Amino acid sequence: MEVADLAFGGMGVARHDGFVVFVPDTVPGDRARVRVRKSRRRFAESDLLEVLEAGPARRDPPCPYVPRCGGCRLQHVAYETTVDAKRSQIREHLGRIGHLPDIDVRPVDPAAEPFGYRNKMEYSAAPAPGGGLTLGFHRRGRWDEVIDLDACLLATPRGNAVRDTVRRWATDCGIAPYDQRAQAGQLRHLVVREGVATGELLVTVVTAHGAEDLVDGLAAPLTAAHPEVVGLLHAVNDGLAETTQGLPTRLVSGRDWFTERVMDVTLRLSAPSFFQTNTNMTGRLYERVAEAAGLDGGQVLYDLFCGVGSIGIALGRRARHVVAIDIVPEAIEDARRNAAANGLDGYTALCGDVGKVMTEHRGQLPEPDVVIIDPPRGGLSGKAVRRVLEVGAPVLVYVSCHPATFADNAAKFVEGGYRLEYVQPVDMFPQTPHVEAVARFVRTAEGPRGPLDADPGA
Ligand SMILES: C[S@@+](CC[C@H](N)C(=O)[O-])C[C@H]1O[C@@H](n2cnc3c(N)ncnc32)[C@H](O)[C@@H]1O
Repeated sequence: MEVADLAFGGMGVARHDGFVVFVPDTVPGDRARVRVRKSRRRFAESDLLEVLEAGPARRDPPCPYVPRCGGCRLQHVAYETTVDAKRSQIREHLGRIGHLPDIDVRPVDPAAEPFGYRNKMEYSAAPAPGGGLTLGFHRRGRWDEVIDLDACLLATPRGNAVRDTVRRWATDCGIAPYDQRAQAGQLRHLVVREGVATGELLVTVVTAHGAEDLVDGLAAPLTAAHPEVVGLLHAVNDGLAETTQGLPTRLVSGRDWFTERVMDVTLRLSAPSFFQTNTNMTGRLYERVAEAAGLDGGQVLYDLFCGVGSIGIALGRRARHVVAIDIVPEAIEDARRNAAANGLDGYTALCGDVGKVMTEHRGQLPEPDVVIIDPPRGGLSGKAVRRVLEVGAPVLVYVSCHPATFADNAAKFVEGGYRLEYVQPVDMFPQTPHVEAVARFVRTAEGPRGPLDADPGA
């Protein structure tokens, strides 16, 4: 089969008489021998057996763990081809899901660094095949196997060094890695977060219950080896789910937050608060948001899904008032502190679900001139879309990390009286299939702002 494109998710796409075959680990222009694994009416999934002829975009992945590791999916593809594909995927989703075929999707802003850009890494622990412990990433397609890493090319040198220190400590102390099949053992995950611009590191060790003394013993060797570690936390996961979020957590040493700097704004980030994982490109992303928002100092700005308040605070100096909403209490506390520390007057931060908070505060908040929307991958709920349409701001700026949910939300905004002016993709995640983009919508339909149709959940 000949591979023609890259689909969202990183699979190669081959076509035959209108039938689509997805082929992993291929690039446009590859001729490949494949075995169909799963066939549906209009498409099939396949395994790659052999590349018969390499396409021009094929390259040797610099990481020795490709393709075993489940992390990167695009290291075998020339960088320019990956960004072109990401742009096409946004167009394709807008056309197919949003029925918006002719949108100006601009060329992707390329990443400043193709490697070493991640400020947050989550490693899993598992028993090593010959005994002992592995600390790394899941083998592709396997929930029960973890590949031990000497270095991850997406992590920073500091982040890699911390993982090695924790692995040495765990091995030296004889800490049992958690075995998911047997549901036994202690060490489950390691989360390393880094303020790339400040050099500060925050480390969270996730174990099953009963490892307090052991983790306490990590504090001294960790800070001795890495004085830039400002805090060590210990989270306990006694459940089946492999998660690092929402767990009971205690502070072992130092503090439970670190700082990062973006666009001359210093931010405090608590352990549970979200922050963009590529600090250097976050500045670029926010510049694109600022461009799309077009603030001149007199406007009211809503920063929905605000995290630690970074967008609203970076842009807030050009606004009259900022209203920020996020569902994570620690993030809202961070946002309040960050706004105050950065001298922002006229800042209101509210905690809760965007749709619910906007409903509860109907008529009590200043009317927005610009609404910035930066939701998680699932996009906006129906209720949140209705509330955004109801407040009827002249400009919406949507920061999307998922083209499918973006296309669906975009269609609803267009139906509700907005025109999608353009989409500016920004590559925040080189080597991976993730696609980030900033979109500007302007209100075209006239009419009073106010409640829309009846909302059963309101
Ligand atoms: C993609 S992050 C954006 C964060 C921030 N704008 C930034 O640039 O760092 C999405 C944020 O949405 C928050 N969130 C998720 N679901 C939410 C909901 N239903 N209502 C409000 N906030 C939510 C998360 O806590 C997270 O901070």
